[in-house]
Amino acid sequence: MKRILISMILSALILIPVYSAKYVGAKKCKLCHNSTRHGKAYKTLYHTKHSKAFEGLVKDGKADDPYCLVCHTTGFNEGGYKMGAPDTYNLKFEGVQCEECHGPGSDYMKNNIMKDRKKAISKGLKIPNEKQCIKCHDKKKYPWAKKFVYKERLKQIDHRYR
Ligand code: HEC
Ligand code: HEC
Ligand code: HEC
Ligand code: HEC
Repeated sequence: MKRILISMILSALILIPVYSAKYVGAKKCKLCHNSTRHGKAYKTLYHTKHSKAFEGLVKDGKADDPYCLVCHTTGFNEGGYKMGAPDTYNLKFEGVQCEECHGPGSDYMKNNIMKDRKKAISKGLKIPNEKQCIKCHDKKKYPWAKKFVYKERLKQIDHRYR
């Protein structure tokens, strides 16, 4: 009996997943980040080309090309947009959305955690910097990329309100 119990406890431990947050899609962030008090981050972002970055791939007939998808979707093959998943699932992760820059949101998006910056960061929230941008805005990986000057480019997508 004791042995069975111990083995049950051990297998339960093994079954506990390694900590990893999930991508939830920008509509979830919109719930709170669409008011004046929160800088209308959602509205601001949805006027930039990031949110429409998938449309260019469709026009070029490259919506199935993993080389292109890495930079034109959110969380590509890392828990967001997934090669071969049904469209109904992938629709949530088309384009460059909040979580591509701020990290997968399932664990930090609760109001009481979001209000506490330290807590939110410990739950996976990223405060992006230039490095985050260079993942995609990189001529070495994508020769057609324009020159990237962080300060100027940041201005074009700025949604800070504090
Ligand atoms: C339940 C409401 C709610 C949801 C949903 C939510 N947030 Fe927040 N968020 C807040 C609040 C409240 C703050 C605290 C700042 C404030 O009050 O202006 C905040 C702050 C932030 C900050 C600023 C952190 C800092 O201190 O610089 C970022 C970035 C952010 N949220 C991103 C997101 C993203 C990305 C999502 C979607 C995955 C999301 N939030 C979903 C309520 C929310
Ligand atoms: C292309 C990358 C990128 C995307 C996409 C993006 N953000 Fe940000 N976000 C940033 C950067 C960069 C900052 C500024 C960080 C700093 O203060 O240095 C920022 C700051 C913020 C802040 C803090 C504002 C403040 O005044 O300090 C909030 C809130 C926020 N983002 C929410 C969102 C939400 C919600 C979305 C999706 C609708 C989103 N972001 C999409 C890069 C991004
Ligand atoms: C996951 C890849 C990715 C990341 C990360 C990323 N970008 Fe982009 N960015 C793109 C793509 C793709 C486009 C072009 C979209 C289109 O035109 O279809 C773009 C376009 C832009 C534009 C033009 C926007 C417009 O509306 O004219 C600016 C400015 C920009 N990015 C700034 C940034 C900054 C600043 C960061 C970092 C905080 C960043 N990007 C991070 C992929 C990315
Ligand atoms: C390493 C990241 C990266 C990869 C890979 C990538 N792109 Fe892009 N793409 C970008 C960035 C960044 C921009 C925005 C241009 C800029 O501001 O530098 C962009 C812009 C675009 C645009 C809109 C602007 C334009 O130039 O017409 C289209 C369409 C596009 N890419 C299609 C594609 C296709 C098709 C592929 C695959 C063959 C691809 N991209 C692969 C990063 C990438």
